Amino acid sequence: MSHVFYRKLDHALPTVVRASGVFVYDSSGKRYLDGCGGAMVCNVGHGVEEIAAAIGAQARTVAYVNGTAFTNEPAEELAAMLAERSPAGLDKAYFLCSGSEAVEASLKLARQYHVERGDEKRRIIIARTPGYHGNTLLALSASAREHYRQIFAPWLLDVAMIDAPYPYRAGALGDRSPAMTGEALETAILRLGPENVAAFIAEPIGGSSTGASLPPRGYYARVRDICDRHGVLFIADEVLTGAGRTGRFFALEHFRASGGEPISPDIIAMGKGLNGGYAPLSAMIVRSGIIETIARGSGRFLHAQTYSHNPLGCAAAVATLRYIDKHGLVARAGSMGARMQGALAAVAQRGDGADIVGDVRGCGMLAAVELVADRETKRPFSRSLKVAETLVAKALERGLILWPNVGQADGINGDLVMIAPPFTISSEELDELIILLQAAIADTAAALKMEQPL
Ligand SMILES: Cc1ncc(COP(=O)(O)O)c(C=O)c1O
Repeated sequence: MSHVFYRKLDHALPTVVRASGVFVYDSSGKRYLDGCGGAMVCNVGHGVEEIAAAIGAQARTVAYVNGTAFTNEPAEELAAMLAERSPAGLDKAYFLCSGSEAVEASLKLARQYHVERGDEKRRIIIARTPGYHGNTLLALSASAREHYRQIFAPWLLDVAMIDAPYPYRAGALGDRSPAMTGEALETAILRLGPENVAAFIAEPIGGSSTGASLPPRGYYARVRDICDRHGVLFIADEVLTGAGRTGRFFALEHFRASGGEPISPDIIAMGKGLNGGYAPLSAMIVRSGIIETIARGSGRFLHAQTYSHNPLGCAAAVATLRYIDKHGLVARAGSMGARMQGALAAVAQRGDGADIVGDVRGCGMLAAVELVADRETKRPFSRSLKVAETLVAKALERGLILWPNVGQADGINGDLVMIAPPFTISSEELDELIILLQAAIADTAAALKMEQPL
């Protein structure tokens, strides 16, 4: 009888006892291929000795000091490494523990910056639907996840929502729709009054909400231009995509301004793969001008957390980034990712369950398979059938871990699974992943035909 309670209360979970490379083992000896890096976290694989050693060494040297009394060597080194990898001008980093905290802090920083500039009216946040930024109340307010929001709706803030670019469901206008061109953002800012808008937050390439959807190439150039013209801060939520997942260190690097220059957001939120899952850590990377404004004003960022800038998490991230560099893992996420995308595209064409695969898409080591009741009309399955959950359960039975998401088609219905293995996956392991995935899709299609989903 366990005294732990987990999110899912309707079934017991297997006990994990060890993990190595792309494999996780439970106490019965069963082996699982980690096809989604846990929750798009384990980018460098499990059991990396150098990272474990760096954490041990840091724990022996200094495990914790408070960030109001001391700086520490790993935090300084990590901030310098991130500044080097970030777009020009973003060279100040603030460390927290989870992605939600980094998003929460980014939104609060945006508001505080405007207030300290004397622009107190700017308080509105614009976010996108589908979209996800975390589960603390401000981050959840900016997230279009109805099933997480419903009960807490009386506590959530009013965040303005625009449609996210979602090519598979962009409708008849396709790339010319306001959601896909970026025009929806300008329309929203003008409707709300530019003088009231503080920030626009977006996942540069969709995470699980739009299932690895890519906006058209010109989208972020337009977003940057709109934000600049209206004095709105652009926050890139790279919690899921950052640290190489899409084959570039930041997903925003896939997009360029019309002259070919890189596109710089004002704030980047990172988490997950930043330290490959070896210790909780997230980061907010900020344009230095924003920090200078606050330094000249109140001199305090109003966001205190006990574990901010903690040496242990920062040491894990320094070791992770060094490991990524040493093994060229961002480039590998691009090259193995291209192979993975090709193999996944074939899944939609053949196999017993191919008739429930509506779309396969992604970038680098981030991919999604969207499941539909009708491939022609893209009609989603009814939510009551729990198709994504069924596929994840069938895959787990076969020893493959996948990540589900639901509700993306219309807020309630919609099923997809994310495929995001560690960048270190070998060709043979990738072949195994594809075989297991195809078998689990066939199992799911068969269960649906027999009206026996979860
Ligand atoms: C894009 C994005 N932002 C923020 C978060 C929240 O991160 P965390 O779960 O670490 O709080 C997530 C988590 O899935 C995410 O995908």
